[in-house]
Amino acid sequence: MNYNVFETKKEASKAAYELMKSLLKEDSILGLATGSTPTDLYEVMIEDYKKGNVSYENIKSYNLDEYVGISYDHPESYHRFMDDNLFNHINIKKENTNVPDASAEDLDEAVKTYQEELDNTQIDIQILGVGGNGHIGFNEPGTPFEAGVHVVDLKQETIEANSRFFDNDINLVPKQAVTMGIKDIMKAKNIILLAFGENKKQAIKQLVEGLEVTTEVPCTVLKQHPNVHIFVDKEADFKN
Ligand code: F6R
Repeated sequence: MNYNVFETKKEASKAAYELMKSLLKEDSILGLATGSTPTDLYEVMIEDYKKGNVSYENIKSYNLDEYVGISYDHPESYHRFMDDNLFNHINIKKENTNVPDASAEDLDEAVKTYQEELDNTQIDIQILGVGGNGHIGFNEPGTPFEAGVHVVDLKQETIEANSRFFDNDINLVPKQAVTMGIKDIMKAKNIILLAFGENKKQAIKQLVEGLEVTTEVPCTVLKQHPNVHIFVDKEADFKN
């Protein structure tokens, strides 16, 4: 595991991008995250694309998760997040991008389809954020490491943390999501985990310094992955 600390989110995101770029091939498959964590990384990706340094023409992507119960044109849906923060600004083909179809009428079928797609895919570079409670994707504490794509009931702390995107009103925050499972995340060749802010410090401490691999802190499973690169700002640095 490779642990990198930077003064700011921007600096950490730039460094993460440099690593990502060194791993990126013309036809790479990316695993992508949403939320506040990857926004600067996506900005840097867009900037570099606009300079003509990289093309996404033959790149595919799979997102970690999507809320159940809000439409894809809702400003906080992860479909919309990806369009607004990345896909609409680079030359990735929309048909090569994949986000769980959590608004499907038949959710079980949608889960099965996403699982089949992931089972036939090798993600080259997986971008991850982490929840204050250690969740990765929306694999909340207690999720078995063998879990694949599934519908998850979000924990109260996750609903509260995400209410900042929903006018600080927990009643507006979706209570369920479809997420890739931990086994799907662990299949990626390379994992780049970003964490910013004081409320991530404890999860990062348990991941980097702790000895225990436990479903109670899902990110600790990454100790068992051979290629994990962690980029944090000084607020999330557990040594700070
Ligand atoms: C998002 C995701 C989540 C977030 C985590 C942190 O696609 O899978 O695990 O990475 O909830 O969220 P932020 O970045 O908003 O602090």
